[in-house]
Amino acid sequence: MRNTAVDPKELAFQKECIEKIRKLNSAKKQMPKACVITYGCQQNENDSERIKGMLCSMGYELSETREECDVIIFNTCAVRENAEMKLKGNVGALKYLKAKRKDVIIGVCGCMVQQKEVAEILHSKFRHVELIFGTHAIYKFPQLLLEAKKSSVMDVEDCDGYIVEDIPVRHDDKYKAWVSVMYGCNNFCTYCVVPYVRGRERSRTFENVIAEITRLAEDGYKEVTLLGQNVNSYGKDLEDGKTFAQLLRAVNEIDGIERIRFATSHPKDISDELIDAMAECKKVCPQLHLPVQAGSNKVLKDMNRSYTREKYLETIKKVREKIPNIALSTDIIVGFPTETVEDFKETVSLVKEVRYDSMFTFIYSRRRGTKAATMDFVLSEEQIQKNFDELLEVQNKISREINETYAGKTVEIFVDGYSKNDPETLQGRTPENKIVNFKGDSSLIGKIINIKISEVRTWSLNGELE
Ligand code: 5AD
Ligand code: SF4
Repeated sequence: MRNTAVDPKELAFQKECIEKIRKLNSAKKQMPKACVITYGCQQNENDSERIKGMLCSMGYELSETREECDVIIFNTCAVRENAEMKLKGNVGALKYLKAKRKDVIIGVCGCMVQQKEVAEILHSKFRHVELIFGTHAIYKFPQLLLEAKKSSVMDVEDCDGYIVEDIPVRHDDKYKAWVSVMYGCNNFCTYCVVPYVRGRERSRTFENVIAEITRLAEDGYKEVTLLGQNVNSYGKDLEDGKTFAQLLRAVNEIDGIERIRFATSHPKDISDELIDAMAECKKVCPQLHLPVQAGSNKVLKDMNRSYTREKYLETIKKVREKIPNIALSTDIIVGFPTETVEDFKETVSLVKEVRYDSMFTFIYSRRRGTKAATMDFVLSEEQIQKNFDELLEVQNKISREINETYAGKTVEIFVDGYSKNDPETLQGRTPENKIVNFKGDSSLIGKIINIKISEVRTWSLNGELE
């Protein structure tokens, strides 16, 4: 078993740094402000909540307005190129702020800068960025921030990754929380940069996960989403032989927690034990995100996904037999280098056969250092775009048809808060994770209530209080 713990002396040093900055900040006339801007997946959101937790412990007030902040941190994503472009645009736009207020610290952290070459380019091109740290250095944020106050710092250690417990966390939500149960990925799908930037698979102990969720429940949290790049690998690196299915059952027993979700599952590892646990645990929502990526066996092989179309469909059948009301979602990559028009048609036929509730569709993005980056493209950019549009159209129709079945029904929703698009409207989610909009008062936030669906849209439902 690999030692994933960080030297306790080093953790104690981070606490000292937190204390030092807190003292510096408390001597200021006005409480300094900080913001963290997050790109990418839920795992990144969870990392950002830790950075925010450390910032609050150091005496910063969190703000959404970048211009008024003393510390601005961008937590980045490396999965596709457009996330990198967006980041560069947003970081570049802050050059004027640094010129105006020299003491502002602008930092970039996370997956994108865990790639050493990218970190170095950023460091040389964006001189106003004085703090750069990769995914493995997040726990060192207090020390790095203290150093950055004197001169530019970069910490991009190439390693397999650690597990660091007890970092202060500031959750974005009061009732729903992300809980990472494992980190890293060992799968090396040929298109994907994640195994290179997030290190090897490592699981938090059963006790630590349960203790965190118990604390959350005591603090009034009602919903948890268990996170990992591949949660089905949970426990494989632990000595006690615990599995993800056992973890789900244990979380299901925690008083106060009412809904449990998890992401992401790799289709190759989904076990009967997990399907049974999902079916039997009342609090586990009938929702499964099972990224298929492609419908053709040739492309799946080239992607190193380790399952066939037939095996995937068999898994879906098994899941539906045991959990008839399951809502399924998936990720699909269009335009993988070896994908032909015939291969793409197999993806479309798979999508029509499974009938997912929702789908995240991506155009393949070449990632430096991955195996697929050396492969030649079969299809032109225009053809790939055409295929992408066609797939979206097919899925939109299916999503809409599935949503139509909700018309007139009463659903139980967990009320999240006000809708981003309309501050007058409240928004919640059904156990299947359908978004429901309705008019109501703020006292309903954080409650589970019944709503009668009156209008159906492709991506959401509208309803009224019962
Ligand atoms: N290009 C496009 N999409 C990708 N994904 C991962 N790597 C790439 C890439 N290089 C998608 C996969 C994965 C999701 C999180 O991002 O579909 O499931
Ligand atoms: Fe990337 Fe594959 Fe690991 Fe998912 S399972 S993070 S797609 S390498």
